[in-house]
Amino acid sequence: MSLLRQHVRGAARSLFPSCLLSHSPSHVRRTVHTKDVAQNASQTRPTHPRVVFSGIQPTGMPHLGNMLGALMNWVKLQREAAPEDKLIFSIVGWHALTLPQDPKELSAARREILAVLLACGIDPKRSIVFHQDENRHHAELAWILNCITPMGKLHRMTTWKSRLAASRNARDDSEVDESLLNVGLFTYPVLQAADILAYKTTHVPVGEDQQQHIELCRDLAVTFNKTFKGGKDDPPVFPLPRHVIPSTSCRVLSLKDPSSKMSKSSPDVNSRILLTDSAEQINKKIRRAVTDSITGISYDSDTRPGIANLVDILAACEDAKPQDVAVRYANRSHAEFKMDVAEAVEGLMSGPRREFERLRRDIAYLDSVSKSGAARAMEITEKTIDEVRKRTGLY
Ligand code: AMP
Ligand code: TRP
Repeated sequence: MSLLRQHVRGAARSLFPSCLLSHSPSHVRRTVHTKDVAQNASQTRPTHPRVVFSGIQPTGMPHLGNMLGALMNWVKLQREAAPEDKLIFSIVGWHALTLPQDPKELSAARREILAVLLACGIDPKRSIVFHQDENRHHAELAWILNCITPMGKLHRMTTWKSRLAASRNARDDSEVDESLLNVGLFTYPVLQAADILAYKTTHVPVGEDQQQHIELCRDLAVTFNKTFKGGKDDPPVFPLPRHVIPSTSCRVLSLKDPSSKMSKSSPDVNSRILLTDSAEQINKKIRRAVTDSITGISYDSDTRPGIANLVDILAACEDAKPQDVAVRYANRSHAEFKMDVAEAVEGLMSGPRREFERLRRDIAYLDSVSKSGAARAMEITEKTIDEVRKRTGLY
């Protein structure tokens, strides 16, 4: 029997790894493995009820990194949220359009990603799930925020450079040709801020790579509140949202180049595991993952990044600590270890994959979910936009 089977036998294997446990009210919190990067906690403290908002672009099938780094964190948050908390998850089609997209593919991806969210466990009765592009208030607020965003601040951000570089297969950001930069990509973070602020969000669960965007969003909330104070007794319009980051063990690296993140844009399809990959494909990709020639298993991301990545993945799937996993496998061969990693990943993906295959064909259901999600979303943002119009003089 594999070491993995022995380990999980008799214990319910959690679909929701410990690294996905996130900020939850203390009465429901079990383990907190997340980093909270709110710079000034006292300014952001009143977080009951919480408003949690996150978004994902409809740009291709999610991979293991998206699942462990984002989607399952959302499901975890949903499971642990207090009844009065609002949970809002958006498929951000307008953000996707900031890079060239094939219209037919975008349309299919838009529906597929909704099926993925539901397949992973987002419950449309508990959470609001909707398409950003079906709520025009995001665009309206983005315009107003554009008018208080300094060009210099956006220009200093590195994300547009990285996105442009990735879309052109440039080796690094310095190779980016700025003449190819469109205004939409440049102001991408402002639209993201509008997504977040339109709901008066208090918590934003996204990866570390989004830190600059959340900081800009917080800056814009402060600037707006200062610039448009309203009357003497009016409260500030926007709370300062907190960035909630899953612990670093959920940063999944490329299976072919463990110095970079697993990503949708890498030209090598064997560098990532997709939600739609079969058990056989998962096994093959993990068997061929780049490791090293050192005997046995240990956990050191500096000297053994390939092995450490697989240890992280297995630990995340098992809800265990990577160090404990490494000790358990210390004397096992790479082949045995990889077999167990593949088995654990298949265990994590098979349920959502089956559910995705069922849901993706149920177009009427998907359309009804997105329609009611957009209506619920607009009910909230209508109120914010009304306040914003009043504060800015647009009434
Ligand atoms: P993207 O695929 O860049 O649109 O990212 C969607 C979400 O998945 C974001 O919250 C990212 O932080 C997260 N994410 C993307 N790639 C990874 C990865 N390799 N490991 C962990 N999280 C990831
Ligand atoms: N920029 C985010 C990403 O690439 C997606 C996103 C758009 C988002 N709007 C958002 C995430 C609002 C959180 C909140 O992953």
